Amino acid sequence: MTSIKPSQIAPRYLEQLGHKGGAFLIGKGPDGTCNAMTIGWGSIGYAWNEDTLTVLVRQTRFTKPLIDASGVFTVSVPLDQDLKAALSLCGTKSGRDMDKFAAAGLTLHPGQSVDCPIIEQCALHFECQVVLTQEMEPGRLAQDHERYYADHDYHTMYTGKITACYLLD
Ligand SMILES: Cc1cc2nc3c(=O)[nH]c(=O)nc-3n(C[C@H](O)[C@H](O)[C@H](O)COP(=O)(O)O)c2cc1C
Repeated sequence: MTSIKPSQIAPRYLEQLGHKGGAFLIGKGPDGTCNAMTIGWGSIGYAWNEDTLTVLVRQTRFTKPLIDASGVFTVSVPLDQDLKAALSLCGTKSGRDMDKFAAAGLTLHPGQSVDCPIIEQCALHFECQVVLTQEMEPGRLAQDHERYYADHDYHTMYTGKITACYLLD
């Protein structure tokens, strides 16, 4: 395990998010239920004198109430690993209906700073404690972006303080 500065790895994270199939957002509920969903949108930042990670989660996602209840999340990111099939499964099936970890052959490993696991097969991991939860206000969205919300399934933006950022060998 090698700690790395979020600002140092940010370009690779953003490239993976936007152009290489995405990353896994993991939540763990109070009853121990864990779930992962694929994310393709998000950002890395710096606020409140902390490194931060923001993820966008639509209301209908099974992962959402898990994050709401626990106030923590992790993001596991494939870098050179070929996890396209697992990303596709976690991005098209819901944890409401199945154990996606088992179905995709993904192994969980406990987080080191939060009570939420990471996915062992990925190289890069962010562990986060939610510091800001922001419901999207549709009226504030530029008109040309409304096409992303034809079904009114708006995003909630979770900004987490990054409590650990590391590479697994
Ligand atoms: C490449 C890709 C990127 C995605 N990005 C997001 C995202 O950023 N936010 C989101 O809410 N859903 C996103 N999705 C859709 C969710 O991953 C998908 O609806 C998933 O089945 C939700 O799982 P859950 O119900 O178990 O939480 C993405 C799907 C794919 C395939």
